[in-house]
Amino acid sequence: MNRRYRKTIIAGNWKMNKTPAEAKTLIADIKTAVGKQKWCDVVLCVPFVDIANAVKAAKDSRIAIGAENMHFEKSGAFTGEISADMLKELGVKYVIIGHSERRQYFAETDNTVNLKIKAALEAGLRPIVCVGETLEQREAGITEEHIAMQIKLALAGITAEQLRKIVIAYEPIWAIGTGKTATSEQAQEVCAHIRTVIRNLYGARLARAITVQYGGSMNAKNAAELLAQPDVDGGLIGGASLKAGDFALIVEAANQ
Ligand code: PGA
Repeated sequence: MNRRYRKTIIAGNWKMNKTPAEAKTLIADIKTAVGKQKWCDVVLCVPFVDIANAVKAAKDSRIAIGAENMHFEKSGAFTGEISADMLKELGVKYVIIGHSERRQYFAETDNTVNLKIKAALEAGLRPIVCVGETLEQREAGITEEHIAMQIKLALAGITAEQLRKIVIAYEPIWAIGTGKTATSEQAQEVCAHIRTVIRNLYGARLARAITVQYGGSMNAKNAAELLAQPDVDGGLIGGASLKAGDFALIVEAANQ
């Protein structure tokens, strides 16, 4: 973290967990457990059907609600899809774009990621853009190249002004849901690399200001060490965001 230049953001990603009624209870618990965090922003990205309850439950707290996906078109014949304007109207502030599970199971490409980022920004939502390498890519020594390419394609046509609204999440695919966290050195190395890629595209000032999160088995035990790295500005947390106590401990680690 480097609070002098950028915001620390701790975001939960509930994935396909919790019904609307369960969401209400969990957010009430998180609200109590998290208290009045001063130094970081807290976001909960929840399933579409939970959003209305989540926004209500998070009212009068510093917890912002996010979505886990969206479509890039404004409206039309896209059965089963949700637009950015629909999310915005419900009170959503953030949206995860290009999560590796979306890329892997739902055929999202760097191109759809780019279109979704543009549509989210246009609707006034803040995209949390996910990038990350597979174990195979890491072992082949092409992590940095792969991530640079994902970022360049994701941000194609995005202006400097728009970049200010974007959060990037570095999520090594081999660390997601596996309990196998990247070491703090590995997380730092790639988050710093992401900042270098942004510097080359947008200059030093914007690179210094962008929030780069780490995600992949971040939990109450390893959060402090990961967040102590200078280029790790927060976390995108799956499993541990479903337990109010654990999530609150991660937020607390970000407030140290
Ligand atoms: P995890 O998921 O914390 O359960 O590994 C992180 C993510 O997929 O965003």
